[in-house]
Amino acid sequence: MEYLKEKEVRSQKSKVRIALCMILDLKDLKTVEKQYYLQHVIAPRPICFASTIDKAGNVNLSPFSFFNLFSSNPPIVIFSPSRRVRNNTTKHTLENVLEVPEVVINIVTYDMVQQVSLASCEYPKGINEFAKAGFTAEPATIVKPPMVKESKVKMECNVIEIKPLGQEAGSGNLVICEVLRMHIDDTLLDGNKKIDQRKIHHVARLGSEWYCKVDETNLFRVPKPNTELGIGIDALPASVRSSTILTGNDLGKLANVHTMPLIEPSFDDAHLRNIIQYYSVSPEELEKELHLYAKRLLEENKINEAWQILLASA
Ligand SMILES: Cc1cc2nc3c(=O)[nH]c(=O)nc-3n(C[C@H](O)[C@H](O)[C@H](O)COP(=O)(O)O)c2cc1C
Repeated sequence: MEYLKEKEVRSQKSKVRIALCMILDLKDLKTVEKQYYLQHVIAPRPICFASTIDKAGNVNLSPFSFFNLFSSNPPIVIFSPSRRVRNNTTKHTLENVLEVPEVVINIVTYDMVQQVSLASCEYPKGINEFAKAGFTAEPATIVKPPMVKESKVKMECNVIEIKPLGQEAGSGNLVICEVLRMHIDDTLLDGNKKIDQRKIHHVARLGSEWYCKVDETNLFRVPKPNTELGIGIDALPASVRSSTILTGNDLGKLANVHTMPLIEPSFDDAHLRNIIQYYSVSPEELEKELHLYAKRLLEENKINEAWQILLASA
């Protein structure tokens, strides 16, 4: 491809490496190409399964992955039905919310994904995708469009603004929704009425035909840096910062402590003693072994212990 360029990049550890990199100026791309690259990299995207209704009472149900949460107070979510790339026509969902500014946003989970995809077929106006995709319409409690019974989380919303982003094929239309009421399935809740993130099994959209499923095998926690500030990677000892063994994630964990750790005289670790005994003749080997051991401890989230090991070599 003509965009292939050689580029110099500076790695985290200030070593200059040469990388091959494709540089794209969006103004030079066709709409389908822009869509292709953007959808592959802005991913994964959550899926809004939007139920809308027109003035005559015809119901529509379609998925939109140009969707996210933008504010908690007021509670605002936005999704975007684009003008069709093929022929620059508008989608029924957009036409419906312009007529009746209300929507139910149903969250898409793994057990629904094939039917959700079916609902995205371009059925003619007036065809109800609840029937076509085999979902059960359940009356909402505040707004007119029905909810999807099979969805584990449904949000009844008022459409407070619709903002067209252009008139060309592919232009998005921001449907700005205020969430009025949420319906959360009991099976997702723990004893304290909090959502157990492991139970939802969201699916999300990536590029082309790719989706991903969120489940316990790919969920992990990153402790939130709270009001106390992390010391920062620039404050780490030089030998740690330039380690060829510790990764960016390892350094991130070490740098999230609130004060620079000091050697704890009471810290006693048999493996540390062994390393010192075997490798103290060679400072390079000693540092390598200590970094490997610290890395193992960081993988087990033993941050304090990892610091003590690293302080032994710094
Ligand atoms: C998972 C998924 C996500 C989609 N996301 C969008 C989107 O964000 N914007 C869009 O315009 N179309 C999106 N589509 C395509 C629409 O769902 C499709 O054009 C649908 O037919 C629109 O229906 P309507 O004309 O009845 O509103 C998506 C399709 C799928 C399967």
